[in-house]
Amino acid sequence: MKHLLYPGSFDPIHWGHLDVIRRAADLCDRLTVAVAINHSKKSLFSVEERVDFISQLTADISGVQVLGFEGLLVDLFREQKANAVVRGLRAVSDFEYEFQMALMNRSLEDSLETVFLVPSQERIFLSSRIVKEVARLGGDITSHVPPLIQEALREKLGS
Ligand code: PNS
Repeated sequence: MKHLLYPGSFDPIHWGHLDVIRRAADLCDRLTVAVAINHSKKSLFSVEERVDFISQLTADISGVQVLGFEGLLVDLFREQKANAVVRGLRAVSDFEYEFQMALMNRSLEDSLETVFLVPSQERIFLSSRIVKEVARLGGDITSHVPPLIQEALREKLGS
């Protein structure tokens, strides 16, 4: 029974994240999508909203559970008895940060392996930060996030 843990801020989830979720779910029996509560980073959506969006958008994928977490990822990894952590890798620019995180996590928990998945090419440039910025400025995000998120961004930003 392989259990993968996919942590992130998902503020909000976009098609790139969903692409990684589908790829990861295909590789394991159970996939936990873990939404981080980070008090030092101001998020647009609450953790409850982010968990709810992801739950709705992954309802058709078997073996996926979604939860919020606070604190260290390694503690959740141990608590969930996961086999590995999944992260999406979009570009070389992601690499340094991801590499640091993977090594720090492994230094905290020797059994923690990080597996990197590359989203499909048409999703590779997506980031939640850019999606929010474009939405805030009234740009078209219809091809970058699911309709549920488009609506939520419209409501939240009044755009
Ligand atoms: O989507 P993000 O913002 O790149 O996700 C980053 C996240 C949430 C995976 C990372 O910040 C994290 O693991 N936070 C939990 C706190 C922690 O364990 N920090 C040390 C990791 S090196």
